[in-house]
Amino acid sequence: MKKILSFALAAIMLLSVALLCVSCTEPEIEEEKPILKMGTNAYFKPYEYYDGEKIVGIDAEIAAAIADYLGYKLEIVDMEFDSIITAVKGGEVDFGMAGMTITPDRLLEVDFSSSYATGVQSIIVPAGSPIKTADDLFAEGATYKVGVQLGTTGDIYATEDLGADRVTAYPNANNAVIALKNKDIDCVIIDNEPAKALVKDNEGLQILDTAYANESYAICVKKGNTELLDKINEAIVALTKDGTIKTIVGKYIK
Ligand code: ARG
Repeated sequence: MKKILSFALAAIMLLSVALLCVSCTEPEIEEEKPILKMGTNAYFKPYEYYDGEKIVGIDAEIAAAIADYLGYKLEIVDMEFDSIITAVKGGEVDFGMAGMTITPDRLLEVDFSSSYATGVQSIIVPAGSPIKTADDLFAEGATYKVGVQLGTTGDIYATEDLGADRVTAYPNANNAVIALKNKDIDCVIIDNEPAKALVKDNEGLQILDTAYANESYAICVKKGNTELLDKINEAIVALTKDGTIKTIVGKYIK
């Protein structure tokens, strides 16, 4: 009886040692990385958009790669496009990345990284629209109404060129397209890749051949935050060199 007991005891001890070993071969809990917060507006496919609960897209993935390269964990904060620069200035987020065009006015408020992509302002019209080219829109006497996303370069240029009364600014591009389908407006001016995605997702719309303006997209940081800006630029160089950025872009833009 004693023998059986000590045998059982030995067996239990062996088992617990074995169990302990299993747990010690398990990967150690990852060391807590500091968080880098990105401000964006996630209604801008293929740059940033929701896939279920998750924000995905070119910017989301490039930002994750940059954060990873620099040893940070990325956190994405979705907000109105119009609020991103304010959030960067106020330090609520560390940087803004939203297919954001470098403009002279924005350069007065924030600092921009080197550019990681280019964009073109495109014009979306319903199929069969009398607007055939950008010139039709700007022609003398034309009264066509334009929809844009609030605070974007599309908004800024259209308001400058056509006057505020011909331009309606919507919270995001999806709202503008709904208004276009309702015939509240005659066209939508928005960046070319989001325009393509919107036309693909909504029947009966098309993009005019003539583009409106060429632009460069970059990441913005609080003015004077050269420490973060230098790191971001270093990461952009490295991720361009090793092909990461190209691979990410190629995943979303065929
Ligand atoms: N490129 C344009 C701009 O900088 C539009 C960007 C809109 N981005 C967005 N995530 N909604 O004004």
